[in-house]
Amino acid sequence: MSGPIEGRAPRRGRAGVPAGRLGAAVVGLGGAVATTAVAGVELLRLGVCGRDGLPLAARTDLVPYEDLVFGGWDVSADDLAKAAHLHRVLEPAQIEAVAPQLQRLRPWPAVADSDYCRAVTGANVVAVDGLRERTERIREDLRGFRDRQGLDEVVVVNLASTERLPDPASPALASAEAFEAALDAGDEAVTPSMLYAYAALREGMAYVNFTPSAGAGVPALTLLAERAGVPVAGKDGKTGQTMVKTVLAPALRSRALRVEGWYSTNLLGNRDGQALEDPDSLASKTATKESVLDAVLGYPVEDHKVRIEYYRPRGDEKEAWDNVDLVGFLGRRMQMKIDFLCRDSVLAAPLVLELVRLLAEARRRGERGVQEQFGYFFKAPMTADGNVPEHALHRQERILLDWLDGQDGQDGQDGQDRQDRQDGLDGLHEPARGYAVRSARS
Ligand SMILES: NC(=O)c1ccc[n+]([C@@H]2O[C@H](COP(=O)([O-])OP(=O)(O)OC[C@H]3O[C@@H](n4cnc5c(N)ncnc54)[C@H](O)[C@@H]3O)[C@@H](O)[C@H]2O)c1
Repeated sequence: MSGPIEGRAPRRGRAGVPAGRLGAAVVGLGGAVATTAVAGVELLRLGVCGRDGLPLAARTDLVPYEDLVFGGWDVSADDLAKAAHLHRVLEPAQIEAVAPQLQRLRPWPAVADSDYCRAVTGANVVAVDGLRERTERIREDLRGFRDRQGLDEVVVVNLASTERLPDPASPALASAEAFEAALDAGDEAVTPSMLYAYAALREGMAYVNFTPSAGAGVPALTLLAERAGVPVAGKDGKTGQTMVKTVLAPALRSRALRVEGWYSTNLLGNRDGQALEDPDSLASKTATKESVLDAVLGYPVEDHKVRIEYYRPRGDEKEAWDNVDLVGFLGRRMQMKIDFLCRDSVLAAPLVLELVRLLAEARRRGERGVQEQFGYFFKAPMTADGNVPEHALHRQERILLDWLDGQDGQDGQDGQDRQDRQDGLDGLHEPARGYAVRSARS
């Protein structure tokens, strides 16, 4: 294998900032979200873009964005400058500004299986058949990345195209021992996203799944994460329509306005949309999008419908359209329409950057297993022991902030650092004025 090329970050040492170089090993490095995240960090390094969209920008106690080092796999071998041009998320001038850095980043050969993701394939794949051997290749890539770059910590991030879900009842996924045996036997219940997750855990690296694919979200791997003392989080980033839904639904519940039906349509023309043309991959996505409403409202909404249409002209500029049918006092009916003309990857990329910083912080604190406090970022938050997750955004934010504040008194930092954190906490709300978070803190 020719040597992979990764972006390089300068070493920095600032008071109050966790020491060390932090790597992000991204599955799907050439994708729209990943290239936007990498280009975003390079633009931040140059100081030519602002921090809008980054909810934790004011948290100076997390590793600075500028200190992240990227590497990763993709079934396409295109360097990231070429990939960014193809995705058409960024302005050409923005890509040009960081073209040398993006050109240096070439994805490593990926572990893929077209049986799990039919609509997105490519030639940049490892020529290794057995599942165990594939995990060994991924582990070699991770160790090589850490050693070449002199990284103190690596977080593995799944940003690959959505896979179909495996049979959740498969015995191969029920325990760590059964999973090990399944790797040796080539059991087809084991998907590529699980192979990456397993490799991360075995290397003692934190893992985050931003996609609807299974990743570490099966009992065998959450148990392994516990045993290995490694934090994991997921799944499926909550960026546009579902983010809005989990803000609105708690308000409707609070005013006792009964939701009779909620019809959600998504029109998107990027490669993510193309992957979702495959009915099996689509089923993974609609499952995570549909899971939130009943839990927030506290009663089943029989007519909650979620549709996703691949509509090429839109590219990454997704239209998320919602119609809500409500029943109020005296049985009178009302409707609410929301049309969010968003940019999928522009919403997603900053959340990915925050998750990398947070997983590194969780590692620093010795957290292990499923990290429920990061549910704020996900459509279908993973929970330990199968608990029902919290979905309401304002409560998720409170949980996240409480966890971040938990470092008070634990690390012996001085008053200035505490003040920094308070400033960070206040700053968290700055870009998010559109929703009612103040009341949650009072
Ligand atoms: N707002 C959002 O954009 C958003 C929100 C939530 C979740 N997600 C999820 O994040 C993921 C990435 O979204 P995107 O818009 O960047 O999609 P994308 O199609 O642009 O990127 C996915 C990348 O994964 C690569 N890939 C496919 N199979 C692979 C494998 N086995 N190993 C390595 N690479 C592989 C593809 O070649 C592609 O470059 C998708 O699963 C999507 O559902 C996105």
